[in-house]
Amino acid sequence: MTTPTDPPNHFDEDVAATYDADVTAMSMPGVLGPAVELLAGLAGDGAALELAVGTGRVALPLAARGVAVHGIELSEAMVARLRAKDPEGTVGVTVGDMTTTRVPGAFRVAYLVFNTVANVTTQEGQVACFRNAAAHLEPGGCFVVENGVPQLQRLPVGERFVPFEVTPEHLGFDEYDVVTQQMWSHHYRPRDGRHATVPFRYAWPAELDLMAQLAGLRLRDRWAGFDQSPFTATSPSHVSVWEKPGR
Ligand SMILES: C[S@@+](CC[C@H](N)C(=O)[O-])C[C@H]1O[C@@H](n2cnc3c(N)ncnc32)[C@H](O)[C@@H]1O
Repeated sequence: MTTPTDPPNHFDEDVAATYDADVTAMSMPGVLGPAVELLAGLAGDGAALELAVGTGRVALPLAARGVAVHGIELSEAMVARLRAKDPEGTVGVTVGDMTTTRVPGAFRVAYLVFNTVANVTTQEGQVACFRNAAAHLEPGGCFVVENGVPQLQRLPVGERFVPFEVTPEHLGFDEYDVVTQQMWSHHYRPRDGRHATVPFRYAWPAELDLMAQLAGLRLRDRWAGFDQSPFTATSPSHVSVWEKPGR
């Protein structure tokens, strides 16, 4: 059930049907293993909340690792795919907008991965997302975000497009509007004629730090990835951990 105030759903049945196959590279043990270990370590004997849980790419292995995981997800089609992989409901899911939807309980860790904070295309909405994550945390709990660093160093003055993958299977281009901080990822899959454009709002890590501050969180760690490698001037993405004070 959607309402007029729900954000647009860019992960409808067509996208959900091929999502897991399209993100195979992000589901390899070498990618997921460090993410699950870091999140499980932060969760300890507490619970984890995934904002935008999708088809359970991270939530299902985290639950299999013994962590109680609940997810919030906008797309019922994505939730249906998760359910098909988890018929016993090991991972609980609440269908709703992660900027406003509350679920019962207090969580040791909340997380929002795979650039999905940028799926919220307004600054106000991204701040609401941080506030909502923080509201779910126990004192001492952490909010973990994995997000791309805007690739503006690769953008010549006046240009808009940066290719991020060019293979026979997938032509991917990010389009930047440096005035509004809007960005669109264009995906062309020539073999089967599919094309999709997904809108984003890009933000520097420093802006996310300010959003965290507005939500009452403070930066604890920032790495280039879940492998906890150092974040540098050329890192294409970051994994940041903000902590809710008070324990
Ligand atoms: C790139 S997928 C990531 C899914 C999963 N977290 C993963 O890592 O595979 C982005 C997901 O965010 C969901 N999403 C986007 N905006 C949302 C919102 N405002 N509230 C809840 N879910 C949202 C989409 O429906 C989609 O399932």
